[in-house]
Amino acid sequence: MSGAVDFCGLALEHPVINASGTFDAIAAQRVFGDALLADFPFSAFVSKTITLEPRAGNPPPRIYEVAGGMINSIGLPNRGLAGYLEHDLPSLAALPVPLIVNVMGSVADEVVQLVEAVDARAEIAAIELNVSCPNVKTGLDIGADPDELARLLAAVRPRTRKPLIVKLTPNTADVARVAVAAEASGADAVSLINTLRAFAAHSTRPGAPWLGGGTGGQSGPAVRHVALAQIAAVARRVTIPIVGMGGIQNGRHAREALDAGACIVAVGTESFRDPLAGQRIARELAAPRV
Ligand SMILES: Cc1cc2nc3c(=O)[nH]c(=O)nc-3n(C[C@H](O)[C@H](O)[C@H](O)COP(=O)(O)O)c2cc1C
Repeated sequence: MSGAVDFCGLALEHPVINASGTFDAIAAQRVFGDALLADFPFSAFVSKTITLEPRAGNPPPRIYEVAGGMINSIGLPNRGLAGYLEHDLPSLAALPVPLIVNVMGSVADEVVQLVEAVDARAEIAAIELNVSCPNVKTGLDIGADPDELARLLAAVRPRTRKPLIVKLTPNTADVARVAVAAEASGADAVSLINTLRAFAAHSTRPGAPWLGGGTGGQSGPAVRHVALAQIAAVARRVTIPIVGMGGIQNGRHAREALDAGACIVAVGTESFRDPLAGQRIARELAAPRV
């Protein structure tokens, strides 16, 4: 397939990767068998977010379907760093594409430990830093505040020479200012958008949340035009590559994200409808423009 792209020194076969947390490559391999590896839907694989300690995630319900997508309140369940390295990494390292590991911590020390551990593993090609979470010490949302993010990156950047992608949150007044701070603090790339904070009302208990975790994050086609606006705003202000995502369902949507300034795109919610969406979108993208 044409459309090979260099992303932070990684040679990708095409510009379509998965969005963190939306494609379980280990489960998919159980369903599709070795055929999945022979024709893997994405040109790089991004792990779901891992944290230093294991997390159980939020109580159910965790998903609420909305017109044009979903609101999720999964709560980042994961085995924690040690569990990930022992149980998940061997399978994920066997995938036929570069592996990007997404990490998150609520204080710099945690993120430093995660990044150092990931940096030590040759199987991992790059690191994505999910900053959509509050700093438990200051209470400020790390990814919503340029100074918070700069302080975090000052601690984290020197700990790895692997490409460092900062995954920005859309839940901020000026995402481009945060992106500028990421670039100035040594990020090799930024990715956006993460989910938009959203609330699903309970059907019988007035004012109560439907989702077990309270609020959630909205994704899917309904957020695509918000994503395009944010990608374009960030592209005007930074020179580092952008991973564009948010509601991408087909080649035209991917093309629009690239035209807005993304270097590559990621597919998230669409993979729930069509687990092989990544390869379909890459094919559509490679076809001549009409
Ligand atoms: C069910 C679900 C789980 C997600 N889990 C993560 C996650 O673990 N880490 C992360 O950085 N983003 C996570 N995201 C956000 C996606 O990676 C992506 O940024 C967002 O969904 C927008 O893309 P989309 O509209 O194509 O889904 C999750 C999204 C969904 C729908």
